[in-house]
Amino acid sequence: MSRTYSIAVIPGDGTGPEVIREGEKVLRAAAEKYGFKVDLHSFDFGGDRYLATGEVLPDSAVDELRGFDAIYLGAIGHPGVKPGVLEKGILLRLRFELDQYINLRPVKLYPGVETPLRGKGPEDIDYIVVRENTGGIYTGVGGFSMKGAPQETAVQSMVYSRFQVERCLRYAFELARRRGKIGTLALCGKTNVLTYVYDLWERAFHELGEKEFPDVKREYYHVDAVCMWMVKNPEWFDVIVTGNMFGDIITDLGAITQGGMGIAAGGNINPQGVSMFEPIGGSAPKYTGKNVINPLAAICAGSMMLDTLGEAEAAASVEAAVMSVTGRELEGLGAGKMGFSTSEVGDMVAERV
Ligand code: IPM
Ligand code: MN
Repeated sequence: MSRTYSIAVIPGDGTGPEVIREGEKVLRAAAEKYGFKVDLHSFDFGGDRYLATGEVLPDSAVDELRGFDAIYLGAIGHPGVKPGVLEKGILLRLRFELDQYINLRPVKLYPGVETPLRGKGPEDIDYIVVRENTGGIYTGVGGFSMKGAPQETAVQSMVYSRFQVERCLRYAFELARRRGKIGTLALCGKTNVLTYVYDLWERAFHELGEKEFPDVKREYYHVDAVCMWMVKNPEWFDVIVTGNMFGDIITDLGAITQGGMGIAAGGNINPQGVSMFEPIGGSAPKYTGKNVINPLAAICAGSMMLDTLGEAEAAASVEAAVMSVTGRELEGLGAGKMGFSTSEVGDMVAERV
């Protein structure tokens, strides 16, 4: 029986289409090698469509996307559109409405990749951040009063329910148990200042851990301290779980320690529904159309997608191919610094798969 996965592809803005093209190349190679099919359907959501039609996301889009096995996204963000319009209207809307409540972001240094952390290597930098993805300060609870007046005020609230916190923690505990690296789950919070929201997180963390995951070791760090240790002692970490905004911030720091945005991938996961995979870097307008952007982050996002679809062997072979390319071929991971073009890097990975 042949396995077929129908995948919605949103290349998006800037360099998104260039990196997604290489990701598709690698997916097709993996499908052929491992005996399954990928049915790719492209959607033109993004800045150009918005500028031409005034529509960010058609109302039917979310329901249509629900019918796919997975979504593969390039990048959202257009220099001609005010910041926030596309990010909220496409990326965040899809994360929220598809209830992709986990944002999974591995921080893993591949062989041959230079890290700015002196004296650290692939054996030291290998952990996963579980970022809560549908709550917190990201959901737009807030507003202005007296906008434009000298006494203007603005408020933006961090709101978390026990339900949201618990389902995220449960996923992270299960991941820490499954990974079995050092069997540790670290909660990243700010209980000394955010004494309501992170108090809730910390209580839920220990209660759930004690009751359902006694075999997983629990650690707590304030977010500022996490930043420090991610630089000084990344080898301490196995799985880090945190709220939406801290997760956004610390994963850019993590990305830089693994070689930069050219390699950092993420998955917006709904364990019971449709998940969306993306390189975590932006649309990089200044490199658009030059065939110099690094496609490896998009390719790695494709590997995470295969893993989630149940094609673990294919996923591992894509990751191994990426590692062999970073280890033996590329001069660097930055745009224009790879020693190869975007499409050449895609070809190399596809061949090795
Ligand atoms: C990310 C991005 C997004 C976020 C932006 C583009 C809305 O920075 O995926 O990390 O903040 O979640
Ligand atoms: Mn971010």
